[in-house]
Amino acid sequence: MTNGFPKDFRWGAATASYQIEGAWSADGKGESIWDRFSHVPGNITNGDTGDVACDHYHRIDEDVALMKRLGINTYSFSISWPRIFPNGKPDGTAAGGLNQKGLDWYRTLARKVCEAGITPMATLYHWDLPQALQDRGGWANPDIVDDFEHYARTMFEALGEWVPIWVSHTEPWVIAWIGHWLGHHPPGLRDFSTALRVSHHLLLAHGRAKAALAGIDPQAQIGIKLYTQMNYPATDRDEDRAAAHRDYGHYTRWFLDPLVKGDYPADMIAWYRSKGLVLPDVTDDDRAVFANGIDFLGHSYYFSHRLRHTPGENWPLELATELVGKHHTQKGWRIWPQGLYDNLVRITNDYGKIPIIITENGVAFNDIPTEAGVIEDTTRIEFIRQHLVAARRAMADGVNLQGYIYWSLMDNFEWEDGYTTRFGLTYIDYETQKRTPKASFEWYRSLICGKADL
Ligand code: BGC
Repeated sequence: MTNGFPKDFRWGAATASYQIEGAWSADGKGESIWDRFSHVPGNITNGDTGDVACDHYHRIDEDVALMKRLGINTYSFSISWPRIFPNGKPDGTAAGGLNQKGLDWYRTLARKVCEAGITPMATLYHWDLPQALQDRGGWANPDIVDDFEHYARTMFEALGEWVPIWVSHTEPWVIAWIGHWLGHHPPGLRDFSTALRVSHHLLLAHGRAKAALAGIDPQAQIGIKLYTQMNYPATDRDEDRAAAHRDYGHYTRWFLDPLVKGDYPADMIAWYRSKGLVLPDVTDDDRAVFANGIDFLGHSYYFSHRLRHTPGENWPLELATELVGKHHTQKGWRIWPQGLYDNLVRITNDYGKIPIIITENGVAFNDIPTEAGVIEDTTRIEFIRQHLVAARRAMADGVNLQGYIYWSLMDNFEWEDGYTTRFGLTYIDYETQKRTPKASFEWYRSLICGKADL
């Protein structure tokens, strides 16, 4: 036991392809929806793009050395689908078929991570869909489920030698709700019925990938990363309690119920229907795919909400949302470690003792190097410490928690905020690409190797 965590606990750090790789058109890579979106002036703060990002594509050795120095036993990264299938489809033509160079790049990365004594944990989809698939309807088109399964199989076969643990999707509500309902992410749609159809295809794609992995590598595990917050009622009034449960339904139960309980939550179906929305047709075959389930739940936690029933607000949810906690972060979120504990316990109560890994938890501050070039991010250290204390308490209270993965290993392209927000344990100077471990990096390293106390 180290600091109350078991010996085989996963200690990690995470990144995602579009946010760090750069090399957006190198070696045969196809255009992704994020390339297209970020190249449109006005979509991203300061006109930033992921064209170069942290230039990780050309810096595998340096970055694996960084991970090794950090002492993590798990590195969570994602694969850029258009690097593998530039045209989205495995249709065998030179333009649409497999891009061997892209595949080889991930084989090299996974091998080098493994050789450094770190377990590579690969995510198949962290939002950078091939633009060519979007042009055919993207996640709203049911054909994407076959395309995803084929892409997943390709990756399981190519990386299976090194990767024992997989994630299908990062945060499906971000893809469905933000990309297809709120329109802040590509493809920038604002249609909730489409967003519901997208959520269905994402869940089917997960289930099909899960079955494929079981056939190819029965020892390997695959989960899904859900961005789950704690949803507290603003008052004890029944309607506020119902609003909080609805918010939990919208962000968590809609995705977790099918995978653990076999179908969508009836109250949410009734609610969406009462708003005149078109719900996906769920067949028995679909339910059989849901039943493939998850090997673990990836739990991404950043903040929590307090909810008040408010007709007319936040359609179709009819509720007002307020962040819980006093301290603001650079992203405008608030710090609430208790929400991590409450949510882990709630999920365990509602879904049983499913294995959970905290696949993302992190904070952005305006980190500025001192004249001596050091970054004294003591508030980040305190953030991690408090969340780990909450996680440890949840384990003591019966939660089957198997790991903690900090977001992120390094500062990176923060989607619509561009490079203005910094979540990293490592400071990136985007002019020179110099990597400088922050104080939080050194503290996390000492913690992992048992030299620091929580
Ligand atoms: C996403 C990351 C993002 C982080 C901070 C997570 O939900 O997976 O890509 O950088 O939140 O916003």
